[in-house]
This record gives sequence, C-alpha cells and structure tokens, in this order.
Amino acid sequence: MADFDPTAYGASGIADEYDDLYADHWETDGAVELVAELAAGGRVLELGIGTGRLALPLVGRGIEVHGVEGSPEMVAKLQAKPGGDRIPVVVGDFADADAGTGFDLVLLAVNTIFALPDQQAQVACFRNAARHLGPSGRFVVEAWVPDVGGFRNNRLVRPRLLHADRMSVESVELDPVDQMMHTVQAVFSNGSVRLYPANHRYAWPAELDLMAQLAGFHREGRWADWTRSPFTAESRAHVTVYRLGTPGAAGG
Ligand SMILES: C[S@@+](CC[C@H](N)C(=O)[O-])C[C@H]1O[C@@H](n2cnc3c(N)ncnc32)[C@H](O)[C@@H]1O
Repeated sequence: MADFDPTAYGASGIADEYDDLYADHWETDGAVELVAELAAGGRVLELGIGTGRLALPLVGRGIEVHGVEGSPEMVAKLQAKPGGDRIPVVVGDFADADAGTGFDLVLLAVNTIFALPDQQAQVACFRNAARHLGPSGRFVVEAWVPDVGGFRNNRLVRPRLLHADRMSVESVELDPVDQMMHTVQAVFSNGSVRLYPANHRYAWPAELDLMAQLAGFHREGRWADWTRSPFTAESRAHVTVYRLGTPGAAGG
C-alpha cells in the first residue's frame, strides 16, 4: 500500500471550519432518513465519522452509533457537541481499525472511500466493513462518479463557496495512471487564506462493486442520491447498499 496518514485530513486545520464549509454541501436529512430505515433499529458503525454530521442526528433517533475516525481534531469537535460524548469512537485507519463486531450497518459517507490511497487499501476497507457486520449486514457507501471530462492537461480550477464574506476555489491535478486527484481548496475571507489539501484515489462504481464482491458482499441497491433517485448515465454521485451473503439467501 502507498504511504498513508489517516490523520492528514484533520491535521490541515479543517476541523475548525468543516461544519461551516460542508453543512449545506452534503445531503444530511435524506442520508439520516435512509440510514435509519436500512438499519431498522440495529447498531450502526460510521467509518470516517468526522464531526458527527450524520452520527448525531442518527443518535437523536435512538440509534446506537459507533465511529472510526483518523483525525483526533475531528473527534474532538464531535465530542464537544451535545450528545457527542455518548458515541464511542476508535481513532485509527478505517481500512484496518477494530471497533467491534455484530453491527447491522456500516456507513461510509460522502467520498471518503476515495481518501484511501490505493486499490489495495480500498479493498481492505471493504473487508474491514464486512468483519464488523453481523450476518446479512449492510455496507452503505456514498461516492461521486469520477468526472475527468472537465480537466485540461490533467488540471482543473473550479469555484466552490461564494459568500459575501468568504469564498473558495479548488485547484485539482489529475493522475489518470494511479486514478488520483490531488486537490487544494483555498478558502479566502477578509484578512486570511487557508489551504486545505485532499487526495482522492477515485474509482468508478463498477470497481467498487468488484471490491465489494471480494469482501463477500452483493449489491442490494444503487441510487443517485439519498432519496433513492434513479441512478442514470447523468448521475454524478451514487449511494450504494452492499449486503453480506448471496442475493436471495435467507435475510440477504
Ligand atoms: C469528508 S469527511 C466526512 C465526515 C463525515 N462522515 C460526514 O459525512 O460529514 C471524511 C472524514 O474521514 C476521515 N478519514 C479519512 N480517511 C480516513 C481513514 N483512512 N481512516 C479513518 N478516518 C479517515 C477524515 O479525517 C474526515 O473526518
């Protein structure tokens, strides 16, 4: 596996403004609704739990949620929030961390599977999710569909935030050989600029499906978003539900 530091994301200082940058960016209510439905009252483990954007509302619905998180800074933000101290979190790399067994659903939201540095680590993550689940347990993965069409000479600059008091721009470099995108988001506000780097080893949905098969899952469902919109050729992201065992098997 490539050298990888699971603390890197939080070490950039992003924990201090993660909620401000992303609270409205990701679909939260729909995700909580669907995860709660699929968990059906069972126990949930969130890999890359972050500051608890999804975990806290799930706990608010009476669901037992545990987490794995690489960044102590992100965990500190989670634990400082009301109810955050009731969520057990293992600090470690979700490709191999051990947070127990017998979960009903493992969740890996936004594009966090791509935070792992290579295919080997991503396969290890699927296997680790399987190890944490009870029989017929579900692994729910949200990810974008790689879109390399907008790059020119393997480079891309795109605006992201645009507020009167704050704006941000992402500069992205594509490495099609290793399926990597190296991104730096520059966040500007009066008197300061912060740089947040992030590396993504991207994969198309079919490659994720194969990783899932290697770990003993089958694909139970795939939608374009958390409200179960159909996944089509135009979809830019997907929510995929993998389930342990073979399709149609008892409980599977
Ligand atoms: C984009 S944030 C998502 C946080 C949260 N799940 C949410 O939906 O708001 C990704 C999180 O995964 C963590 N992370 C990335 N790679 C990791 C790894 N290999 N092991 C554990 N945590 C990791 C980061 O530190 C960060 O908190």
